[in-house]
Amino acid sequence: MIRVICICGARPNFMKIAPIMKAFQKHGGFETLLVHTGQHYDENMSKLFFEELNIPRPDINLEVGSGSHAVQTAEIMKRFEPVVLDFKPHYVLVVGDVNSTIACGLVAVKLGVKLIHVEAGLRSFDRSMPEEINRLLTDSIGDLLFVTEQSGVDNLKREGVHSGKIHFVGNVMIDTLLANRQKAEKSHILKKLGLEQRGYAVITLHRPSNVDNARAFGQILSAFEEIQKELKLVFPIHPRTRNNWKGKDLGNRLESMPNMILLEPVGYLDFLCLTDNAALILTDSGGIQEETTILGVPCLTLRENTERPVTVIEGTNQLVKLTTDDILAHYQKLKTSRFIVSGNIPRFWDGNAADRIVQIIHDARF
Ligand code: UD1
Ligand code: UDP
Repeated sequence: MIRVICICGARPNFMKIAPIMKAFQKHGGFETLLVHTGQHYDENMSKLFFEELNIPRPDINLEVGSGSHAVQTAEIMKRFEPVVLDFKPHYVLVVGDVNSTIACGLVAVKLGVKLIHVEAGLRSFDRSMPEEINRLLTDSIGDLLFVTEQSGVDNLKREGVHSGKIHFVGNVMIDTLLANRQKAEKSHILKKLGLEQRGYAVITLHRPSNVDNARAFGQILSAFEEIQKELKLVFPIHPRTRNNWKGKDLGNRLESMPNMILLEPVGYLDFLCLTDNAALILTDSGGIQEETTILGVPCLTLRENTERPVTVIEGTNQLVKLTTDDILAHYQKLKTSRFIVSGNIPRFWDGNAADRIVQIIHDARF
């Protein structure tokens, strides 16, 4: 039996870990322990996804909760170390680029346990992003690096990573999307919100550079004020964004837009139904850039850079500068083309990435 501890902690981790847990089970020959760090803990940021995506109940929840970067990272490390000592795994597997990823990765390698990183090699080349630091550090200590797109392979090679560690396998987040797209069609969310197919845009925002800063958030809101005059906007608001602006001027501006539907974060199936049927997505999420590429829905990413360039080069994603004028210019252009865009499906984004990952782990010899 190969013993693997699998880590999840924040919302985007759950979509990534779901197909990996299934693939371990299907393959056989593995003993897994699922650890939830507790980085995200609200029901609609965590538990809901376990139910919808049939992820096994975590064997252990470290319940770290929120905190500064140092406090959160350190707390995860302190609470995770005894778990590793007790389970004695051959591998620790981490996904993505959140604080839980680097915290558990560091604990593993310092105890001499091999580290697997799923979604390795992505680079925004913007070190002011906390995720970029997490990505660089996790890849530099990882033993098996599973990559979603060619740019990731190129980045790792340029950084001097031995090519034997790098495996281009595709995208586990897309495994989850393809496995759930039909189920999501049955969601009642459009009816519940009075929305027509292609008659609305979906918004998500949670990057500190957009939502912790009044100037940037103000520029974005001014664009939304204009757009909602002609297109309904649906905004499931991330807790970081809600907590920042609730009861303040910018929060009041957001709440007073007549054609803005503000929601708490929604579950995966409702969200997939919303995005699949939208005219347009406005976001700063990493994962949503990838999902819209598969759905063929236009995505305006409100960021100066992306660590997922294939979504722009081959997919339906465009980067937009953080000014009201640039957001509106991109919106107008898409409106002129009736929100019809075309793109390709990136290589290996075919629903089988997790199976490839598990086979490679099984065959690996150290
Ligand atoms: C984290 C990740 C980010 C990822 C995002 C996905 C890091 C550094 N950031 O950002 O890469 O894109 O998750 O959603 O790991 N909060 C709640 N309830 C929750 C969780 C958070 O109210 O269940 C609030 C708290 O006020 C908390 C704030 O949101 O302080 C931020 O949470 P945190 O996990 O630190 O970062 P995110 O912005 O969620
Ligand atoms: N998502 C969701 N409900 C929402 C918003 C997003 O289920 O209200 C899903 C989305 O489909 C994608 C994932 O959450 O699968 C992306 O997570 P997030 O944007 O929080 O993180 P990032 O990808 O930016 O790290």
